Amino acid sequence: MNHQYDVVIVGAGLAGLRAAIELGEDTRVAVLSKVFATRSHSGAAQGGIGAALGNEEEDRWEWHMFDTVKGSDYLGDQDAIEILARDAPRAIYELEHLGVPFNRNSQGKIAQRAFGGHTRNYGEAPVKRACYAADRTGRVILDTLWEKCQQRGIAFYDEFQILSLITSDGQCCGLVAYELATGALHTFHCKAVLLATGGAGRIYKTTSNAYASTGDGLVVAYRGGAALEDMEFVQFHPTGIYKLGILISEAARGEGGILRNKDGQRFMEHYAPVIKDLAPRDMVCRCMLEELKAGRGIDGRDYLHLDLTHLGKDVLNSKLAEITSLARTYAGVDPVEEPIPVLPTCHYMMGGISTNTDGQVLTDDKNIPFAGLYAAGECACVSVHGSNRLGCNALLELLVYGRRSGIAMRRFIHSVGFAGLPEKPEADTADRIARLMENSGIERADHVRADMQKLMMDKVSVFRRKEGLLEAKENIAELKERYKNIGIKYQGRSYNSELQDAIDLGNMLQVAELIILCALHREESRGAHYREDFPGRDDGKWLVHSLIRDSGDGPHLFTKPVTITQHQPKERKY
Ligand code: FUM
Repeated sequence: MNHQYDVVIVGAGLAGLRAAIELGEDTRVAVLSKVFATRSHSGAAQGGIGAALGNEEEDRWEWHMFDTVKGSDYLGDQDAIEILARDAPRAIYELEHLGVPFNRNSQGKIAQRAFGGHTRNYGEAPVKRACYAADRTGRVILDTLWEKCQQRGIAFYDEFQILSLITSDGQCCGLVAYELATGALHTFHCKAVLLATGGAGRIYKTTSNAYASTGDGLVVAYRGGAALEDMEFVQFHPTGIYKLGILISEAARGEGGILRNKDGQRFMEHYAPVIKDLAPRDMVCRCMLEELKAGRGIDGRDYLHLDLTHLGKDVLNSKLAEITSLARTYAGVDPVEEPIPVLPTCHYMMGGISTNTDGQVLTDDKNIPFAGLYAAGECACVSVHGSNRLGCNALLELLVYGRRSGIAMRRFIHSVGFAGLPEKPEADTADRIARLMENSGIERADHVRADMQKLMMDKVSVFRRKEGLLEAKENIAELKERYKNIGIKYQGRSYNSELQDAIDLGNMLQVAELIILCALHREESRGAHYREDFPGRDDGKWLVHSLIRDSGDGPHLFTKPVTITQHQPKERKY
């Protein structure tokens, strides 16, 4: 089946929807989503969205910018971070005018709470910067933007998964997607494609990410010739529910929650005396694991406690209702009475498809754009988060850079005609799917997936070292061999979950391999990438972005400089 639109957006999270709205009513836009649109993973974002509104206490965008640069361990590009922090108040008021039901403070203004790494006056003390709607902030923004898209008549293709890009003379002019309900392949011909497909947290055993977070956009971009940037930086969130990884929002600590070890000690006081439990996530995760290594896990086991009991029932029920319910249902504890058992959980990819500040996808270290191809949100790397993202900056990035991509695509599509499609643009993709379906091998996708998730968790998570990464590289190569032998028994076309598992696994193995290669390459510790064999940050050699692209016969690694405008790298102390 063939379709034609001016712009096709892949992903119905906040970045995709915000871009769609920006494109205007005179643009023919389609939004493809692997899940029903309002099930997109942005809806799982809990605690808040950052902006220096100053509604609770003095705040300035310059402080927000500084915190984000410092939080990124100086790897974030400062031009991109300045855009983010400056534009944040506008982005929030726009949401307010669209009808997002933010919590209000006693003066009737948008309420704000503290979040990790956000401070007043360049690190003096925590500041209340995260705007929120209880602990369902992503959910209410997603629903509001989706309603707006419906009013605009934007075409949604729910349960469509991208399989490949179509290019002609080096320009992206469409894509091939798979319709889950029928198994049909669809060809979309367009002037511009925006990839807004989210992250790939499902490559880890313990994650806060939804099942759909399998890195699809990263892989189609990589295979299409784009460069991926800073893939080694994978964020673990300190407070996942023990064993399950379900997110307990940082808002819990923003409201005063405390991490405690087996002796009931508030251990973060020792590691980050100024901002304690509100230190950035990379630090808090490492400190938690140090506590466990030192034998201070609860009852001698491998978890710690998040204590909210002193916050009281009213705060928990009104401001933290979602996590209170999650703790009751999934951890079997009532946070009003007892602490929650927690452990770091894979949460976010700082790395992604390399883009400029207009969302244009880049192909190399000279910032040469991939004509017609754009990316925004978690699948992109612009780079505002550098080596470690601060909490509540993700939703902000989706809106600020989703909008900027929309503006840039609008300009682009008015300057070009439709590029001609190659003959049979879906042929290679159809062959790939046919080969998967016809394979009668004895391997099962779920077994290979479980082995990959365990391997990534054991060897490529918070602490890394050369031997483990080399083993991981070998193990991934073995898993890729096993992948070739995956047999699909069910031959039906409609909702063939065996086929979908195999497609997803192929993407996840590719992302996992690229993360391992970049992690091996970077011989220093910075942000979320901690090499036990290179424990210091090495600005002399490694104040550079890693880039990786498909050279035709395998991945090719290279680097490019970080953009530094105002803040020279310093030691990161909190
Ligand atoms: O903890 C949280 O609510 C997550 C927020 C974020 O990742 O920005």
